[in-house]
Amino acid sequence: MSNILITGGNGGLGLAIARAFLEASPEHTVWLGVRSRREAAEALCAVFPRCRTVELEVTDPEAWTRSLGETGDIDVLVNNAGHHDDALLATMTDAAWSQVIDSNLNGTFLGCRAVVRGMMARRFGRIINVASISALLAPLGQTNYAAAKAGVVALTRSFAKEVARAGITVNAVCPGYVETEALADIPDERRKELARGIPMRRFGRPEEVAVAVCFLACREASYITGSVLKVDGGIL
Ligand SMILES: NC(=O)c1ccc[n+]([C@@H]2O[C@H](COP(=O)([O-])OP(=O)(O)OC[C@H]3O[C@@H](n4cnc5c(N)ncnc54)[C@H](OP(=O)(O)O)[C@@H]3O)[C@@H](O)[C@H]2O)c1
Repeated sequence: MSNILITGGNGGLGLAIARAFLEASPEHTVWLGVRSRREAAEALCAVFPRCRTVELEVTDPEAWTRSLGETGDIDVLVNNAGHHDDALLATMTDAAWSQVIDSNLNGTFLGCRAVVRGMMARRFGRIINVASISALLAPLGQTNYAAAKAGVVALTRSFAKEVARAGITVNAVCPGYVETEALADIPDERRKELARGIPMRRFGRPEEVAVAVCFLACREASYITGSVLKVDGGIL
């Protein structure tokens, strides 16, 4: 039985991760961090009585304090909130750079810092940071996103060493292309072209990433820390 917080809980991956935890055990309590949109998260809460929403803008340190006041001690944190805003570096706006670094990297830092003291006191914790294969591939047009997600991977590995003796594991998952709203703006022809570059010849499903997150979160995964798990259909 765990108290689980998933940021970006109204998005495709957040919802699939939540569902996987809720289906794995009726005893888990799952908090979906939401900000502007919450309708899909609330629909999931209507199905599972132990699923709840909590207001959480991940880039705001005070929002973390407020939301943890509501959720109580967190056993499992999934730093999943994030977004991309692609452009060539030469034409990238200040806002596109800083907002992408903020939601993906700074949000992950704030989340880790917000929960770590409680986890240390209880000598148990699981933190899973959702990065991306963009961290490892560094695609053109994504300098902001690739830098942010590479930062998430480095944060994960460094932080894992700091808390390893306290019974806390910190791992990253690097999804490839996964069918969620985040990819909704890719035109059909480009989708087909991208799929041809994936050894499995298809995009992933959110539940195929969720299973990796749940695995890293389980109590038995107690000797896995600082790992970076790709879930990408074999791209890398
Ligand atoms: N889908 C993919 O192919 C893919 C691949 C690799 C990595 N990822 C990563 O997986 C994670 C989830 O993505 P997704 O595919 O589920 O995308 P999504 O459907 O667009 O969901 C993203 C979620 O993050 C939330 N969010 C963004 N910035 C936030 C902030 N500053 N504070 C709080 N919440 C924030 C969004 O909230 P609002 O709805 O309020 O905007 C939304 O709920 C992201 O970190 C993404 O970078 C996705």
